[in-house]
Amino acid sequence: MRLVILNGPNLNRLGKREPSVYGTETLDDLMNEINEHCSQNQVRILHKQSNWEGQLIDWIHEAQSHQLDGIIMNPGAFTHYSYAIRDAVSSVEIPVIEVHISNVHNREEFRKESVIAPVCVGQISGFGFESYKMAVDYFIRRRNHGTS
Ligand code: DQA
Repeated sequence: MRLVILNGPNLNRLGKREPSVYGTETLDDLMNEINEHCSQNQVRILHKQSNWEGQLIDWIHEAQSHQLDGIIMNPGAFTHYSYAIRDAVSSVEIPVIEVHISNVHNREEFRKESVIAPVCVGQISGFGFESYKMAVDYFIRRRNHGTS
């Protein structure tokens, strides 16, 4: 099974950025933790991060042309207003899970709305780096049991 993790804007600043909200671990720490989790479960994982909306859209399209099995995406602030990313998700047949490190529902009002989550399989929010691993686990269960 092949999955891709797409991290959006400002997630390259993990570890330095608002540590009280996002913790002190870096994007490299996140990738290492996920790689370990995936290698224990025969999952091939790709990691990508961009601060650019169009780049994220290209990677969503590419996941379709490479016939990946799933996308785990933290769209960062694009979550709350990018109809273009939403349309990209709708344009592919690959299941997408939206993840967030912080709980977007107990922060500022504008973070409560995701324009992307309605076209995803679901949203996992508020569990720190565990949010990503929970999304990987969903895809593992789906592979093992053929459920969605
Ligand atoms: C975030 C939440 C977003 O509201 C914010 O803009 C981010 C990070 C999260 O992972 O908690 O950049 O997606």
